[in-house]
Amino acid sequence: MGRDVDAAILRVLDHGQFILGPEVHELEAELSRFCGAAHVVSCANGTDALGLVLMARGVSAGDAVLCPSFTFAATAEVVAWLGATAVFVDVDPVSFNMDAESLERGIETAKGLGLKPVGVISVDLFGQPADYDTIEPVCAAHGLWLLSDAAQSFGATYRGREVGTIGLATSTSFFPSKPLGCYGDGGAIFTDDAELAAVLRSLRVHGEGVDKYDNVRIGINGRLDSIQAAVLLQKLKIFPDEIAMRERIVARYSDALKDVVAVPVIAEGSTSVWAQYTIKIDGGRRDRLAAALRAEGIPTAVYYPKPLHRQPAYKHYPSAGNGLPVSDALAAQVLSLPMHPYLGEQDQDRVVESVRRNLRAL
Ligand SMILES: Cc1ncc(COP(=O)(O)O)c(C=O)c1O
Repeated sequence: MGRDVDAAILRVLDHGQFILGPEVHELEAELSRFCGAAHVVSCANGTDALGLVLMARGVSAGDAVLCPSFTFAATAEVVAWLGATAVFVDVDPVSFNMDAESLERGIETAKGLGLKPVGVISVDLFGQPADYDTIEPVCAAHGLWLLSDAAQSFGATYRGREVGTIGLATSTSFFPSKPLGCYGDGGAIFTDDAELAAVLRSLRVHGEGVDKYDNVRIGINGRLDSIQAAVLLQKLKIFPDEIAMRERIVARYSDALKDVVAVPVIAEGSTSVWAQYTIKIDGGRRDRLAAALRAEGIPTAVYYPKPLHRQPAYKHYPSAGNGLPVSDALAAQVLSLPMHPYLGEQDQDRVVESVRRNLRAL
């Protein structure tokens, strides 16, 4: 695989079409085939992917966009870019994904503040799709568009539906650590809406019309590099195998840990691409376990130590109802263990043994 990627990069160096070259168009076609979305618009990163959809929808000051607080900052950042108001919604304690009842409360909160709810950004956290069967009816009842932030879940399925085909549009990230990662920044938007796709293509090149010197709207420089597309075309070929490898690693982790910690639970009928393998440990033991593992050379990570409604940059934005107790609680409980398709059994056994032994001592 390494040599195939090297050769693909060299081909770009040879033809020299570094921006929106043939690989970019080929990648968009392959991604469309992979997930079934009618239109794929690649772009510079997963944050731009989110922001471009909001720009296309004309989101502006006075609008409220509902999104979870327990997510990466980019989800809410793009709402703030456009002068609109992010209204934070709580998540489910088991799936870590948006809670539809809290979404209802968030819509009421937004209206109570004189804001106009226009859309929802759901997040498929750690690789598992959000519970769309409960979120979609709320969006429909209130006339809100749904943008699925699938930065962590591209390749997963929700009750037989592929990630990339849910909502008005789906965005993803090809950041190197994502399940489908490139060798730098990259992202894509998926939609079945041809008109939206056409506007997104214009927006990613400075709002171009017939060409980039014909500017019909205000856009951004949000294109994907041909070199990144070349890398992704190669990695996409082995992506299904890598997802299966991740599944095997997860099954081993969960078998070995389920009697001592809360292991991840995937909803009936859904699959995850396991961007993270995240366990829950309560009673203040999480940080002590992480420190003990670190001392033994085992890296772990906390996603996310501070939900967005607690962050200095975002705490002035409203939250649904009377606060977000689940997001607050999870921030103190979650711990993500080493997770990638090439994690060897011996290394994994060392992680498991260390978690079990250290938990006994805490
Ligand atoms: C949930 C979520 N949304 C958006 C992004 C932004 O993606 P990028 O880093 O490619 O801009 C990320 C990436 O970390 C993410 O995890």
